[in-house]
Amino acid sequence: MASVVAQVMKASLGRLGPGMKTGCSGGRWSASSTFKPLQSVRFYAGAVANADYTFRQLLDYKTWTYTYILGDNDSKEAVIIDPVLEMVPRDVNLCTQLGFKLVYALNTHMHADHITGSGPIGKLTGTCKSVISKHTPAKSSVYVDEGDIVKFGRFQLECRSTPGHTDGCMTFVWHEKGMAFTGDAIFVRGCGRTDFQQGSPKKLYESCHEKILTLPDHFLLYPGHDYAGHMVTTVGEEKKFNPRLTKSLEEFTTIMNNLNLGMPKYIDVAIPGNLVDGLIDEQKKASASK
Ligand SMILES: [Fe+2]
Repeated sequence: MASVVAQVMKASLGRLGPGMKTGCSGGRWSASSTFKPLQSVRFYAGAVANADYTFRQLLDYKTWTYTYILGDNDSKEAVIIDPVLEMVPRDVNLCTQLGFKLVYALNTHMHADHITGSGPIGKLTGTCKSVISKHTPAKSSVYVDEGDIVKFGRFQLECRSTPGHTDGCMTFVWHEKGMAFTGDAIFVRGCGRTDFQQGSPKKLYESCHEKILTLPDHFLLYPGHDYAGHMVTTVGEEKKFNPRLTKSLEEFTTIMNNLNLGMPKYIDVAIPGNLVDGLIDEQKKASASK
């Protein structure tokens, strides 16, 4: 066992660039500049900050929603994907601390389990525009459709329409970094429900197989939620192990039509809140003045 641990540690240290230190001091292994640096370093954890980009995966622990911040380290422009209203101060503060200017707040769809923070982020920053699919009834600054491109700094995300959970679901693909943000289309070993908001098992199955699982196997898939502690998966993994999407369309449809899930806890406030881009205070003021 000791030699296996030593081999793993040695292999890990071999991936460090010159000048980078490990947290191990006084042990048998130490980093040295004799190890060859990699051309690029990929992390499967919630953050990357030593490349030309910044990546953060953030959790709303009340609804198990993931929010993502992607930044261009040169221009300092950034986007945020699926912000949650209650977590807006955390997210805006983080961007301020890191020196990023948020230019877009993208919603993968009109959520039923939480209120989006995209509108309030726009108000707070004065620079950030809300983005959502044009196939939703939600208010937004920008509407996108299949094939549209969202730019931040020198980077860009491709919008892929992936309906099925809702009609207005979008997957955002960062081709250059091999990442896709799937919202509630594909989860790690699962997928979004299809029993309300124009949900359709057939549409979801086709979206996943035609728009997401056709990406290269090594692409990282970042979901909109996880309820079991997973943070990320890959196209190759889901093609092999997704217990729903590895089935035929007929079997998938039967599974999805028999989930018997309760309604999301906050649906009664989430839908009205998301129809106004999370700007619920403004809506209340407008209603009061009528
Ligand atoms: Fe959803």
